[in-house]
Formats: sequence, structure tokens, C-alpha cells
Amino acid sequence: MLIEKNFSLKTHNTFGIDVKAKGFVSVKTIADLKNALNNSTYGNKFILGGGSNMLLTKNVDALVIHINLKGKEVVNQNENEVCVKAFAGENWHEFVVWCLEHDFGGIENLSLIPGSVGATPIQNIGAYGVEIKDIFVSCDALNVITGDIKTFLNSECQFSYRESIFKQNLKDSYIILSVTLKLTSKNHDIKTNYGAISTELNRLNIENPTIKDVSNAVIAIRESKLPNPKEIGNSGSFFKNPIIKKSHYLKLLENFTEMPHYPVSEFEVKVPAGWLIEHAGFKGKTFKNYGVHNKQALVLVNYGNASGNDILNLAKLIQHTIDRLFGIKIEMEVNVF
Ligand code: EPU
Repeated sequence: MLIEKNFSLKTHNTFGIDVKAKGFVSVKTIADLKNALNNSTYGNKFILGGGSNMLLTKNVDALVIHINLKGKEVVNQNENEVCVKAFAGENWHEFVVWCLEHDFGGIENLSLIPGSVGATPIQNIGAYGVEIKDIFVSCDALNVITGDIKTFLNSECQFSYRESIFKQNLKDSYIILSVTLKLTSKNHDIKTNYGAISTELNRLNIENPTIKDVSNAVIAIRESKLPNPKEIGNSGSFFKNPIIKKSHYLKLLENFTEMPHYPVSEFEVKVPAGWLIEHAGFKGKTFKNYGVHNKQALVLVNYGNASGNDILNLAKLIQHTIDRLFGIKIEMEVNVF
């Protein structure tokens, strides 16, 4: 197990922020992970997955443990369904592609989401009408204090929109080791309700889409709107879509007649933060070497060598402006360190 000192994290976070870790180790086995957790030379521990949902604003004065556990397997299968287990260090999109190759359905709408498998339950990743909670069976996770491994069933994870127990009560207490999902092996439940998917399928004249067609449509939509982190540093949606009182929304509608919304409950609606940010004038704005993406205002971008604090200050400016203009507090989705 090689621990590197004063290690640049630039290629380990999709924002491409160049900060240093006091120590860095990439663990491929649970034994190495336990060893790294027991190491006392570098003080605190900092767990890193795919680095796709974080903004680093300073050097990390800790041992950064990169979870690089690999493997994926079918754990059981019946006529119509299959349970598949993937280890935390697998790249999420490569796992989606592997499932498509085996004709396992259920995660095609989650194609091309950056990051690793281990991070998916933490923020209950979601896109185009599907969230991980919809197909999640369980995950195995290591207790960082006791070293015990616990299996968390779906019902124990307290999933909600971009939330789970791993971001709340159990924050920093467990490291996800593997995730087990229940997928379809036949009679796939094709989900094209999300407007842009059906538009894309119509454009391609596909009437009875397969799971691969849905995946291709999602990939095309994402590529048209979201910057590829390999080319432009970003962390996907920087903010969550806010949930506000219906009465507040109706009041806003008097001035902003085009404001979109999605019903959440009898008394609440969700408003796209991207719309709010665009209508506050930030879409496509560039400051020095960072800014707001020109095709999706929910995405903040690093055009090269921006600091985490530059981006954090822009995020705060956006939050203040949205609050001032619309009386809505938008929360960051990305974890800031
Ligand atoms: N909109 C604008 N301007 C913009 C962006 C969006 O007006 O610049 C409005 C449009 O009215 C559009 C609506 O917002 O119809 C929704 O936009 P979009 O379909 O792009 O989705 P989103 O709500 O902005 C969410 C997720 C994305 C996910 C898409 C598709 C959150 C925080 N973000 O974005 O997730 O890909 O839906 O399901 O919920 C991510 O989490 O990193 C992410 C990319």
C-alpha cells in the first residue's frame, strides 16, 4: 500500500481544482482500506470516490483514501429480474454500459452520470425520471470506527431527493463498499416520461425504444447540455432544485408568468434552479477563468486553474441574488471542503 505525500488532487476531482493532499492512498482491497484507516501518520482521513460531487477550496490536511475497490457480479437471477452487485470503485457509467451489454434494465436513464458506484446512494443520484432509490436493494458499508461491515437495506437509507442517511445522521460514519441493485432481465420498464427523452426518440423515429435506445437518448441530451468534465471542469448540478410553498410560487407567477414548476405535494412545488439562475442573468457569464455554463445554468464551470474559492464565491453570489429576486434560498448540491 503506497502512501504518497503532498499529492495533487487535480485529476481526482471533476472540477479540476489543484489542491494538495497531505497524504494519498488508493485502496483496492478492504484489508488495505482498514490499514489506511488505522494509519495515524497523517491525522484525519478523507474519503474520496470519483470526486464528481465536490468543490475543494483548500489543501486537504489529512490522509485522502481513494476508494478503488473493483468488481461487478450477478448475485441472483430469476426469470424476469436480476440482482447485480458492483463495488464502490467502479465507474458508474462503465457499470451502466456493462448492464446494457447484458440487457439488464433499470439504470439506462442514469447513463453518463460522472462518478463512482460508491457515491450513488449517498446523494441518491437521479436523472431523467429515475433515482437510484428506485432500483436499490442494499449496500455494504464499513463502519469507520469499529471496522464492522453492515448491510443497509433500501428502507434503512432514508432516501429522498438528492439525500440519504449517509449525508445526514451517518455522515462520515460509514464507507460504502458495494451496492446491489435489482434490475430487469426481460420486459423492461422503459421510462420516457421525461420530456426531452421522448423528443429525442421522436427525432430518431424510434417508436418502441429498447433500453439501449433510452441510454443513447439520455447520452445525447446530456452531451448537448452538460459540459464533459474531461474538457471543462465541473461538478454537474451545483445546486438542488428548491422546493417552495405553492402559495409562494403562485405569488411569483404574477411577475414571472413563465416560471416552470413540478408538483411535489398538495402544498409544495419544485422549481428548476437552472431557470432561476438563468433569469437572474447568470447563464453563460464568465469571470476570469470560471463561470456559469452557457447551456445549463445549474452548472458552474472551471475553464482552467480557477480556485475553489473563486467558484464558491460565485455560488454565494448566485444564492444571494436568487434570494433577493425571488425570495428563494437555493441549497448547494455539491459538497464543499
Ligand atoms: N432551465 C432553464 N435554464 C437553464 C437550465 C434549466 O430555464 O439554464 C429550466 C428549463 O425550464 C427546463 C428545466 O429547467 O425545462 C429543467 O431543466 P433540466 O431538464 O436540464 O433539469 P434540471 O432540473 O436543471 C435536474 C438534475 C440533473 C439531471 C436533470 C435531468 C438536479 C439538481 N439536477 O436538472 O442532475 O440531469 O434534472 O433529470 O436535480 C446532477 O445532479 O448533477 C444533474 C446533472
